[in-house]
Amino acid sequence: SGCFTYDPGFTSTGSCDSSITYIDGDKGILRHRGYSIEDLASKSDYMETCYLLLNGELPTKAESDEFKNQITYHTMLHEQMLNFYRGFRRDSHPMSIMVGVVGALSAFYHDSTDIRDPQQRLIASHRLIAKMPTIAAYAYKYSIGQPFVYPKNDLSYAENFLHMTFSVPCEEYKASPALVRAMDRIFILHADHEQNASTSTVRIAGSSGANPFACIAAGIASLWGPAHGGANEAVLNMLQQIGHKDNIPKFIERAKDKNDPFRLMGFGHRVYKNYDPRASVMRESCHEVLEELGINDPLLELAMELEKVAVSDPYFAEKKLFPNVDFYSGIILRAMNFPTSMFTVLFALARTVGWVAQWKEMIEDPGHKISRPRQLYLGSDARDFIPVDKR
Ligand code: CMC
Repeated sequence: SGCFTYDPGFTSTGSCDSSITYIDGDKGILRHRGYSIEDLASKSDYMETCYLLLNGELPTKAESDEFKNQITYHTMLHEQMLNFYRGFRRDSHPMSIMVGVVGALSAFYHDSTDIRDPQQRLIASHRLIAKMPTIAAYAYKYSIGQPFVYPKNDLSYAENFLHMTFSVPCEEYKASPALVRAMDRIFILHADHEQNASTSTVRIAGSSGANPFACIAAGIASLWGPAHGGANEAVLNMLQQIGHKDNIPKFIERAKDKNDPFRLMGFGHRVYKNYDPRASVMRESCHEVLEELGINDPLLELAMELEKVAVSDPYFAEKKLFPNVDFYSGIILRAMNFPTSMFTVLFALARTVGWVAQWKEMIEDPGHKISRPRQLYLGSDARDFIPVDKR
């Protein structure tokens, strides 16, 4: 009953209006609040970009200092939450821990779950951004059986995350400025991307009035899939599977074969029908990090060759399939010593600000409604109930 547009997968449905992120998929343009991703990646830092996404303007020096103070104030996790971690199997995928722990924040921080109160909304936003690196680093520490490393608030956001991930009680990890910068840039490149699957999930969850911690946990669950944020992990597994340049043509043929479920991971995008601008920055960053660390990773060479072969293949050209943000990020993260299972966790960490900004924009829109898509029913018509002994 009723009239509606049938659009499975939402390929042509606008679900909201937003002033946060602009994408021109044909031209390969991405802007946050009007600022190009290239400018933000080279001239800004993640904290400043977070402020911009949340508030609409770049911060003044005083606003920036105050924002950083707020974020560092909330970096600790409630001590009781460490018991929650200990309930997981050591070999749990860190994304499963993330979904659980972030959802559980609402059980620990009752003073920031009332979404009608602007002050509570603000504190919840700060808590989520501040605690995500701690939650992510602890998921890693737990999986390798090392003690949790508490946040150190005189370090920058990216530096602190690297410290909590790689320091051990007897030896503090000191990342070089170039590495910290690369980490920060990866966070900027993943900060927001308008109404993708996970962000739409956050908005749909939030449209019912659910608390922000539960909504962000829903976003993390959606991001996990290999068609979305899980692609960075899948790219590295794919490159390892390809193994050698000589095998590239075989895998390209498999990607083109409609009877083979294999797809070139890190390639293609619903909106970009051109090079993903984030992939260009990521590729550049990849070279810089490998040079800085003195690493000669054959997987980078393999990735570049794969890109070259794919983009010159008529199948990929016709379908406008280009490398996306996930194609090169895995190689940088691997060079930084992150295990493959942490790649999507890093994406979730960085995307939290985007989810929070989008959730906040929706909640603060007085006209927002609960999301309630319709369906095309294809099931059975009305029929008489048959008792079990007659079936
Ligand atoms: N390899 C081979 N063929 C592909 C690929 C690929 N990576 N991506 C799309 N195609 C083909 C697909 O088979 C289809 O062909 P046809 O029209 O003949 O049926 C056509 O291109 C359009 O693909 P689609 O699946 O209808 O497009 P979509 O907009 O629904 O999907 C996508 C977009 C990103 C899910 C898809 O390109 C894909 O699966 N890519 C690989 C996974 C990946 O890298 N995901 C990361 C996306 S960017 C970051 C993020 O969101 O986290």
